[in-house]
Amino acid sequence: MPYAELTASQRISSLACSSHTGRERFGWRFEIHATMLGAQYKTKSKEVPMYPELQGQVAVVTGAASGLGYGIAKRYLDEGMNVVINYHSDKRREHAEELAARYNEKADAGKLRAVAAQADVTQEDEIDKLRHAALEVFGRLDVWVNNAGLEARHPSHKLPKEAWDKTIAVNLTGVFLGSRAALAHFVEHDVRGRIINLSSVHEVIPWPTFSDYATTKSGIMMYTKSIALEYARLGIRVNCIAPGAIETPINAEKFDDPELRGRTENMIPMHRIGKVTDVANAAAWLVSGQSRYVTGHSLFVDGGMSLYPSFERGDG
Ligand code: NAI
Ligand code: BGC
Repeated sequence: MPYAELTASQRISSLACSSHTGRERFGWRFEIHATMLGAQYKTKSKEVPMYPELQGQVAVVTGAASGLGYGIAKRYLDEGMNVVINYHSDKRREHAEELAARYNEKADAGKLRAVAAQADVTQEDEIDKLRHAALEVFGRLDVWVNNAGLEARHPSHKLPKEAWDKTIAVNLTGVFLGSRAALAHFVEHDVRGRIINLSSVHEVIPWPTFSDYATTKSGIMMYTKSIALEYARLGIRVNCIAPGAIETPINAEKFDDPELRGRTENMIPMHRIGKVTDVANAAAWLVSGQSRYVTGHSLFVDGGMSLYPSFERGDG
């Protein structure tokens, strides 16, 4: 059937196919569609599950109806975890629900593997809804990923206060509220829980015309280190993933333009834009037992972008 005639649901469920089946059914369009969703799930099935200890554990992933959050939620499901897939607005509700449905269909009768849950991460009561969803549906909470975020370009001398407030609310207050909800549960119930906060290379690299965004990412890094230190004695681990330029909806417009894409590639020593799976791999390792001695760390997943690429030839 021509791609254009597929319903949104068929397009998304095409992702459930193995890439072999996908190529047979949709040819090259399968790969293009996966890229459009920011979901480059080319992880070979033999690679997952990699961490058997994660099976049956429960994660909340915020902003998980697109891009990195979607990829992380899917990877956790592939590892055998149960996931609360948070989405913000009706625009992306279908993505979250279809991801949950795909895994629920394969689950043992009467059991759920995933639930899609609407919540705005800037609202305390809505964050509580996510925690309750984990506990009511799955009966436990082990991992919380604060992934929701946004960015918008403004010359800093023209940055409206409303835009500043919104960036702080989603990117920074959202991380605080999510972490606090998870920590409260971990402390009260003696859970050796793990929190991952999505910062960015801009936790250390200044970003002109995105000064509000860079400020939040730097703030996430220090908040993460502070709470990592505060709760390490309880066995709770808190880390950042600091991605570089990864192909997702947040920057789709930029990377669809060949000139802008090339300019960014030239800023990356590995000379490629990152894939969602590059980040999802890090997110799986960081909650697994293999990283049990790692806390307060920022794991850069950036192809070397944060390594001062202009020094590559030894100039200076
Ligand atoms: P994305 O735009 O696909 O994902 C962001 C998600 O956050 C969206 O699903 C959006 O609906 C959700 N969101 C926004 N406001 C929300 C709110 N108030 N409540 C709940 N959810 C809300 O983009 P991407 O790239 O997947 O971004 C995920 C995180 O990764 C963000 O924190 C971003 O800053 C960070 N990041 C992304 C990089 C990239 O190159 N794609 C690089 C470095 C960091
Ligand atoms: C932003 C991307 C950008 C990357 C490198 C990330 O934090 O979300 O849009 O390409 O940093 O500048």
